[in-house]
Amino acid sequence: MFNNYTRVKMNEYEKLLIDNREWANRQVAKDCDFFTRLAGIQTPEFLWIGCSDSRVPADRITATQPGEIFVHRNIANMVVHTDLNMLSVLQYAVEVLKVKHIIVCGHYGCGGVNAAMTQHSFGIINKWLRNIKDVYRLHKDEVDSLPTEEERLDKMIEINVKEQVMNLAKTSIVQSAWKHDNRPDLHGWVYGLKNGIINPVFELPANSPIDPFYLYDNL
Ligand code: CO
Repeated sequence: MFNNYTRVKMNEYEKLLIDNREWANRQVAKDCDFFTRLAGIQTPEFLWIGCSDSRVPADRITATQPGEIFVHRNIANMVVHTDLNMLSVLQYAVEVLKVKHIIVCGHYGCGGVNAAMTQHSFGIINKWLRNIKDVYRLHKDEVDSLPTEEERLDKMIEINVKEQVMNLAKTSIVQSAWKHDNRPDLHGWVYGLKNGIINPVFELPANSPIDPFYLYDNL
């Protein structure tokens, strides 16, 4: 019994390695310089901040190739101003890769946003969801005016994406690049799990006016 169980588990993860070999072979068959070219340099024009949800893979849903999108994912595609991981990705993308666009992409039916709208405790993740609860508190009237739970969740998901785009604009990293290089443009999108379509819900082009409360004057 134990051996059989082990065998099945091995096959499951081994399949990934086998599929990887096949994929790499197909890439080289299509374009023999593919990996040597990519190994030398990456020049993505986009930073993608998305949800960790396995159904929302940044490159698959945008039909982009390796090298085209720099990706950061976390639960509910949050831009939290004390998150060293996100800030490190942001700084590298903006200052070294010099991306032209940053996309915050949420998705309808997001479990993270849904959890934050309940009063359940989920342990450690409560700390992360707190950031979404704060968004809910700010927009509670607009969200709660909608008749169904699904509509309220979808509205919160759109509003959350917009708030995270605005959080990007509140960073000195983005403000400095806006001032000195007139980029990146910021985009808020929401992906539909049911139809595969991305809904653009918010845009903040470089040097858009933002709340002076968050504006740095010495960058
Ligand atoms: Co999600």
